[in-house]
Parts: sequence; C-alpha cells; structure tokens
Amino acid sequence: MSTFTKPRLIGISGSLRQNSFNTAILASVAADIADRAVLEIVPLNDIPLYSEDIDTATPPHAVVRLRAAIANADGVVIASPEYNYGISGVLKNALDWASRPYGKSAFNGKPVLTATSSVAFTGGVRAQAQLTETLGAIGAHVLIRPQIVVPAVHEKLKDGKLDHATLGFVRAGIDDLLKAVQANRAVLKAAA
Ligand SMILES: Cc1cc2nc3c(=O)[nH]c(=O)nc-3n(C[C@H](O)[C@H](O)[C@H](O)COP(=O)(O)O)c2cc1C
Repeated sequence: MSTFTKPRLIGISGSLRQNSFNTAILASVAADIADRAVLEIVPLNDIPLYSEDIDTATPPHAVVRLRAAIANADGVVIASPEYNYGISGVLKNALDWASRPYGKSAFNGKPVLTATSSVAFTGGVRAQAQLTETLGAIGAHVLIRPQIVVPAVHEKLKDGKLDHATLGFVRAGIDDLLKAVQANRAVLKAAA
C-alpha cells in the first residue's frame, strides 16, 4: 500500500440479484468518488457454501480471490439487504470464508463502512447490529458512526444512480472511511 496512490476500496454487496439495489448503491458511490478513490465491486456469485471440509490449504479459487481482494484493499464498503431481520446468507457466508484460517482473517485491521438498504421504510436497519457484531468478531475495524440506512431504496435510484440527497448521506460515510484509511497509512508509514 503506497502512501501516495489513490486509496483502493472494494465494495461487497450482500445481494446476488442482477438488479440489486445494494449493488447499485456501491456502483453509484464508485462513480461519485472516482476522482479520489478507486472502488471495485467484488462479486460473491462464485463463493461456495462454507464447509471446513473444503477450507483446506488449497481453498476454492473464488475464495482465494475474495480473501486477496479484502487483504489488499485499503478499506471495504459493505452494502447489504436485510433478510428476515438479519444480513443475507450470501454475505454471512462470505464473511465466514474471509475470517479463516483462524487468526488470519482477511479483515484484520481493515477499515470497513457498512450500509443497508431495503424497499421497506426501515431500510434494513435491523441487519446493522448483526453485521457490526460479525465484522468485530473477524477483526475488522468497523466504522462506528451514524448508520447508513437507505429506506425505500427503489425510489432513490434512477438509472442506477442514487439521488442527490442519498448520495450525500452515503458520501459522508465514505469520507469517514477515507479518513480511517489515511490514519492506517500514517501508522504503517511510521512503523516502516
Ligand atoms: C428472503 C427475504 C427476506 C427479506 N426480509 C426482509 C426484512 O426482514 N426486512 C426488509 O426490510 N426487507 C426484507 N426483504 C426485502 C429485501 O430487503 C429487498 O428485496 C431488497 O431490495 C433486497 O436487496 P437487493 O435489491 O440488493 O437484492 C427480504 C427479501 C427476501 C428475499
């Protein structure tokens, strides 16, 4: 990680749905911040269901790629739907893979910004606690800040772009994430 290059963020969507609102939020944010950071969306489509039987010294390729993408990123943005008051199984499964081998979580020390969205007026807020708790368990530096919750998300995305007000709301979280990334870089530079 260079001190001078643009921060490299990855985006993880908790939805595999082709027209996912959560993935669209990440894409909209990526375009919005392109002048000051790179945000690449890492799809979870090929991640198999977790089993210790296949979590060997040679794990599935998609898992190798996911772990490397997280480990090499300066920061992570997670956008998840709420499924039955929790995060999606797809996202939890990916976090479980990323957390292993034990003690070597790809998320160790990684600044992470979380967001939820839903077509409901609650915006997925009930999934936030689970997401924060799991990320804490796997060593991530979850940004503790006002939660990014996007209710009635279907009304806030037009042609794949978030409306001005919602984008501003999410951008404030990205600003905080980039501050955490800079602070991490300063610590790494001091330690070098
Ligand atoms: C299995 C399932 C459970 C859901 N449970 C909730 C829920 O508890 N709360 C909520 O606000 N929306 C719930 N929804 C609606 C999703 O939040 C909504 O479909 C959302 O748009 C999915 O995100 P996506 O557009 O990124 O795929 C549920 C949807 C599914 C398929």
